[in-house]
Amino acid sequence: MSLNDREVRLVKNMLSEGRKIHEIAKTLNVSPVQVALISSQRDVIKVDRPISSTEKSISIAEDDDTTTKPESKQQRVENRKNIHGDILIGKTNEGEQVIWNPLTAPNPHLMVVGESGFGKTYGITGLICELSRIGLPTIIIDYSRSYEEKNFPNKFRGNFQEVNIGKFGVSLNPLEIRESDVRGPLSVAVRISGTFNRIYNIGVHQEALLREVIVEIYEKRGIYEQSPETWTKDAPHLSHLAAELQAISEDEEDQRQKRAELTFSHISNFFAFNSFNPNGAKFSWLNGINSNKITVLQLNGLDGKPQKVVTEFLLWDIYSYFVSRGPNKLSCFLVLDEAHNLSFKSDTPVDKIVREARKFGLAAILASQQPEDFSGPVFTCTGTKICFQVAEQKGKFIQKIASKCSSKPNEIKDILSTIPKAHVFVLSENKGKVCKFDSHENRGLA
Ligand SMILES: Nc1ncnc2c1ncn2[C@@H]1O[C@H](COP(=O)(O)OP(=O)(O)OP(=O)(O)O)[C@@H](O)[C@H]1O
Ligand SMILES: [Mg+2]
Repeated sequence: MSLNDREVRLVKNMLSEGRKIHEIAKTLNVSPVQVALISSQRDVIKVDRPISSTEKSISIAEDDDTTTKPESKQQRVENRKNIHGDILIGKTNEGEQVIWNPLTAPNPHLMVVGESGFGKTYGITGLICELSRIGLPTIIIDYSRSYEEKNFPNKFRGNFQEVNIGKFGVSLNPLEIRESDVRGPLSVAVRISGTFNRIYNIGVHQEALLREVIVEIYEKRGIYEQSPETWTKDAPHLSHLAAELQAISEDEEDQRQKRAELTFSHISNFFAFNSFNPNGAKFSWLNGINSNKITVLQLNGLDGKPQKVVTEFLLWDIYSYFVSRGPNKLSCFLVLDEAHNLSFKSDTPVDKIVREARKFGLAAILASQQPEDFSGPVFTCTGTKICFQVAEQKGKFIQKIASKCSSKPNEIKDILSTIPKAHVFVLSENKGKVCKFDSHENRGLA
């Protein structure tokens, strides 16, 4: 239930008397999150009369920082130095710090939702720098140059590397057999052909052909499923797969000719970009997680289905790389912003990553404009959720958030649909808090 005008006025009067949020909530029998929201808007909008619905949606100025208690820059930087793994998301209007600690959290994955322009990418950029400060490297898959070097504060640019996959391709090889591939070349063939089918919808027969041809190109290099000692030989490349498919489609004696022709015509635009090739930009996952680097895998220049396939192959590769290292402490964050570009189905790498990767030292930050872009497991498997303003129609997300923090769905809906720009509702360990997302300057980053 929304608060009526009278309740809003009472809350504001009590806030101006300096009374605590929980005390006000108890006295007026309303939810503490509703009081917290009015408290944050009161300072942002600076009115002493009831907030009208139009005023509720007023955004704050980008450099407005009125909700932060005065504290010198030096002090702020010093404070951060003493904290082990604690990353400040922001402060509530009462000055309470809202902390995310990826090193101690039972589940370090982070989910970020919010409408366009409310501060997701800016906020994540700040968190990436904070992760770098506590020695955690980040690998970002960027579709639209949102994470270009110039968007990072100066002092982090030395640690920054961009791998321009969209333009030059990358030296990674999705056909490399990892230790986690228990059936060797067959495991890889199933994964690669499954991804092509899911994204290009080529059909089960073409998927079977692709699987078969992939196994064949391994065999041509002396790599056999039945002989694990051969799995360490140099793996073929995707260009070999393209060549083999083309050869079959031109061979009138091969009974698979027509199917090969059809398959190749479906997926040839992926091969045209040659995104994975030994002459592409040199990059290895080890290079990405070495020291506290910030690595951007730039996909700008690719589009549509080729971009989706490249993303999935990268995600399969990073996941298998971490699994191959065995169980490990947290050693890297993967940022997947603009998650509408991803598939979360049960046989996808994203699903694997959110469910299993943290045991192997890989955690994810997943961000999207619409909560519906995320699957059920993403909601369940992310330990912390950061919500900027969202106007969700169907209400499922609202209900899930509400049930997690024992609030009423309408209260959460009110908060999420009116929370001002750069303010967030943070849900962690079954508690929901409204705070202002700390700016880069405030974090001592700029
Ligand atoms: N906490 C903040 N402090 C200062 N400026 C901010 C803050 N949050 C956002 N901004 C400013 O708002 C602009 C828009 O934010 P941002 O690009 O992060 O939005 P977004 O939610 O990622 O949008 P989209 O979904 O379209 O990608 C940024 O360029 C940044 O300058
Ligand atoms: Mg963005």
